Amino acid sequence: MEFTAKYMAAKAAISEIKSGQRLGLGTGSTARYFVDLLGEMVANGFETICVPTSIETEKQALELNIPLTDLDSLDELDIVIDGADEIDDNMILIKGAGGALWREKIVASKAKRMIVIADHSKMVANLGAFPLPIEINQFAWKTTKKQIENIGTDYITSNKLKLRIGSNSEPFITDGGHFIVDAFFSRILNAKKLSSALLNVAGVVQHGLFIDMCDIALIADDNGVTRYER
Ligand code: A5P
Repeated sequence: MEFTAKYMAAKAAISEIKSGQRLGLGTGSTARYFVDLLGEMVANGFETICVPTSIETEKQALELNIPLTDLDSLDELDIVIDGADEIDDNMILIKGAGGALWREKIVASKAKRMIVIADHSKMVANLGAFPLPIEINQFAWKTTKKQIENIGTDYITSNKLKLRIGSNSEPFITDGGHFIVDAFFSRILNAKKLSSALLNVAGVVQHGLFIDMCDIALIADDNGVTRYER
């Protein structure tokens, strides 16, 4: 079997967890490898209680008999393990290509530590080449889109938005029942100010910038896995 960089990063995360811990389970192809590996460990007696970040991950975890609970039942999580679309030098992330950013952020906000697992292509000097997913309410979504466009280009070098379309050619609907607009900002010059500006738009539910949340990044390439700590 050929081990991909995503698999290697997921495998490295296994040595970061201990039996008895409460874990958040991320979404996406890299997190899927981690959940598969965790399933094998649970079958061999590893004890855990987990909170999934999407319906997709919940289904996978249930198939693997990984014990699940809801976030409200726990006072905190020990670790959330999740993927990312971009990671910069300050370990600020862009997430949400899979459309799960809102739940991912809620789950991460209740974890003592966030571990990101990714292949090396996700490391960037500047955030923004990857379109930033922004979850918005369906109600008056065109108004919300316009208001985001009106943020201008003080913190970004371009501002073009596209409503995400699903595989059925209809607007993509998130687990929370919202739309997503993908923002082609080209380069994000100030992630914190952009975050505040986006959250000031009434119809914005959440965006995919994860600031001061990632504690450890396990980044894999052909030479192995590098561990970065914030
Ligand atoms: C899901 O909404 C995303 O945040 C994913 O975690 C992110 O897109 C990384 O996905 P891959 O592991 O599939 O690259």
